[in-house]
Amino acid sequence: MAVTERRAGSIDVESVRADFPILGRTPHGKKLVYLDSANTSQKPRQVIDTVSEYYREHNANLYRAVYELAEEATAMFETARLKLAAFIGAPDPTTVVFNRGTTESINLVANGWGRRFLKEGDEVLLTDMEHHSNIVPWQLVANATGAVLRYLPLTEEGSLDLTNLESLITERTKVLAVTGQSNVLGTLPPLKELASAAHAVGAVVVVDGAQLVPHNPVDVVDLGIDFLTISGHKMLGPTASGGLYGRRELLDAMDPFLGGGEMIMEVFPDHSTYKEPPHKFEAGTMNIAQEIGLAAAIDYLESLGMDAVREHEKQLTAYAIGRLEDAGAVVHGPKDVEVRGGAVSFWYRDIHPHDLAQVLDQEGVCVRASHHCAQILMRHLGVPATTRASFYVYNTTEDVDALVDALARAEAVFA
Ligand code: ALA
Repeated sequence: MAVTERRAGSIDVESVRADFPILGRTPHGKKLVYLDSANTSQKPRQVIDTVSEYYREHNANLYRAVYELAEEATAMFETARLKLAAFIGAPDPTTVVFNRGTTESINLVANGWGRRFLKEGDEVLLTDMEHHSNIVPWQLVANATGAVLRYLPLTEEGSLDLTNLESLITERTKVLAVTGQSNVLGTLPPLKELASAAHAVGAVVVVDGAQLVPHNPVDVVDLGIDFLTISGHKMLGPTASGGLYGRRELLDAMDPFLGGGEMIMEVFPDHSTYKEPPHKFEAGTMNIAQEIGLAAAIDYLESLGMDAVREHEKQLTAYAIGRLEDAGAVVHGPKDVEVRGGAVSFWYRDIHPHDLAQVLDQEGVCVRASHHCAQILMRHLGVPATTRASFYVYNTTEDVDALVDALARAEAVFA
């Protein structure tokens, strides 16, 4: 059942693919089949050219100088902030802090907000499907403050088990920190419902948007998100691009995490005063070219339309789950594409995922084989690792077919 052929949803995949120079590579003499976009996405020439043009024509440091190049660089950087704010429905660009992405953003919230406001006995509610970047920073802050970490469990299928939500979200809950889309299972938690339960007890809602924002239309106000992390490199942008959305009153109230140049108003021997957000959180020389490249990635995604991106991935995911199960793979996570995204983890015929991925590589098929920085989830699934195929705007059903053909070859190798 080839649902999408070279076209899926309303995306013209043929013309999208022509924008990605790397798709012309032939690893091991085979056509490149890139199925690791949940790890990092490929970049269209529009992003590559924007970064290159920035360095060729405009490169200078921000804010610090009054010459033309510096003014251009600053204007491009601040335009990128406006674009990212609009892309996620943020009411105001001052609520968008630029940094290297989700890991840095969660560390900023945990340290800047958590160390300031958490105290002994307060609870931080996580889930059993979090990436380590949404666990370890909270552990560090819990150790420092005496706060306690609790975890929302999962159903057997790999959705959040909300049956005992009322006993887990209580007056003691001060933070709910949850993934917007599981990097392993693709599961899309019901963010609006969770945010409303958390807000009812006065908790702050932190969403790890690393996998959510690249693949779904997102409106932070409509969803009730207080902090949202954004990883630009997973949404066609350069590595080390992205940032943190935070509700303005929360950003105003919290402490900076990194101190240094450009984030201060005045420095005295024993203390300093800080700039207003977002600059209070942007110490030192920023990732200028990266965020300008991210703006080009946002333009690219908006030209496709995020509804079309989501639709494309739903079709590919449904096709992939069907083909993988027919081939004898055990697919983890919900099967209904209405409640999941396009990261498909599976276990194939008792071949260890690392061995499997090496054979797939020989066929030109790039997948990730790992615990995917989600060891708590691996324990829930009862496996040491999974093989994961993940999709984006440039993937086709032919890519899924190539994966399934390569699995058959792997089976022959390990038989
Ligand atoms: N890079 C991480 C992954 O592949 C987040 O899932």
